[in-house]
Amino acid sequence: MNSFWNEYPNIQSELEVVSKIIKNNIKTNEKVIENALLELLNSGGKLLRPAFLIISGKFGDYNRDKILPLAAVIEMLHMATLVHDDIIDDSLLRRNSPTTQAKYGKDVAVFMGDYLFSRCFLLLSKNNSMEDMQEVAKVISTICKQEINQFTSRFSEDMSIKKYLKRIGGKTAALFALSFYVSAKQSNCDEKLSRQLGRIGYEIGMAFQIVDDILDYTGEEKEVGKPVGNDLKEGLYTLPLIFAYKKDKTRLEGLLSKESMTEENVNKIIKTTIELGGIEKSRELAIKYTNKTFKRIKALPNCESKNILLRITEKLLKRKY
Ligand code: IPE
Ligand code: IPE
Ligand code: MG
Ligand code: MG
Repeated sequence: MNSFWNEYPNIQSELEVVSKIIKNNIKTNEKVIENALLELLNSGGKLLRPAFLIISGKFGDYNRDKILPLAAVIEMLHMATLVHDDIIDDSLLRRNSPTTQAKYGKDVAVFMGDYLFSRCFLLLSKNNSMEDMQEVAKVISTICKQEINQFTSRFSEDMSIKKYLKRIGGKTAALFALSFYVSAKQSNCDEKLSRQLGRIGYEIGMAFQIVDDILDYTGEEKEVGKPVGNDLKEGLYTLPLIFAYKKDKTRLEGLLSKESMTEENVNKIIKTTIELGGIEKSRELAIKYTNKTFKRIKALPNCESKNILLRITEKLLKRKY
């Protein structure tokens, strides 16, 4: 397992159970799919979303028989979005391993994502209420909508911070928010506390995606475990570039080509974005979301989960992968 939760043995042992539940729920006679799924599961994801379900549930009457299957559903959903996202982004590397689409082809990767989605709903229907199903379905459609929006905006110079924030809110923060919210509800937290926890998830998710987008400019492939510069190569103009473009678009206009991007262009854009302060401004915004959420966490009832949340939120801001 990934070392992310090493310092928290209570969470780590619950996450091991979550992995087992996932393993049991992806079995199929179609061994190509099952093996590819097991490879992805064992490739060392940080398991953030299931961990957040566990942490959030502990603000209420934590019932592991209820929370852990739900955490498995959310991680499977996350896995499905990654497999499909890597097809769209034409990405070759994830968690320092070849992506499903690179190793098995785009067709197998499409099947695998779809298969995972169907298994999510099967598992949900066994253990959860219709309300939970609706919450999950709503978030999947939000993710899809914003991934589509991102796709149709490729190479577009009509970019704005507002549009960017809406996009990452939908494609990333919504699932973080859901992880906190459904678990709190399941654990009988009242609506107010559940919403507060959901909001914390949302803000952590916003900071998380901003940092992910920064790492695409400043990271090392070996450390990030994914290709760097891939967003630009695919025409995805994320926050660092948006800030730089706002500062001085004349230095960037000629580089943002309409349909494709050479490696030389990518390197020039990265250099110019850094020079124009795009990384620093982005980092400031990630810090702003983090500080907002720190305040919110500090107002929560005192418990072990609260301390873990404070430390993890900080760790996520400083992460290099
Ligand atoms: C990657 O999420 C997708 C984004 C929202 C940026 P994670 O960084 O949580 O992926 P794994 O599961 O740890 O690989
Ligand atoms: C998050 O965006 C993807 C999903 C919501 C599925 P990215 O495209 O930035 O994620 P990575 O960088 O490929 O992990
Ligand atoms: Mg991607
Ligand atoms: Mg990314």
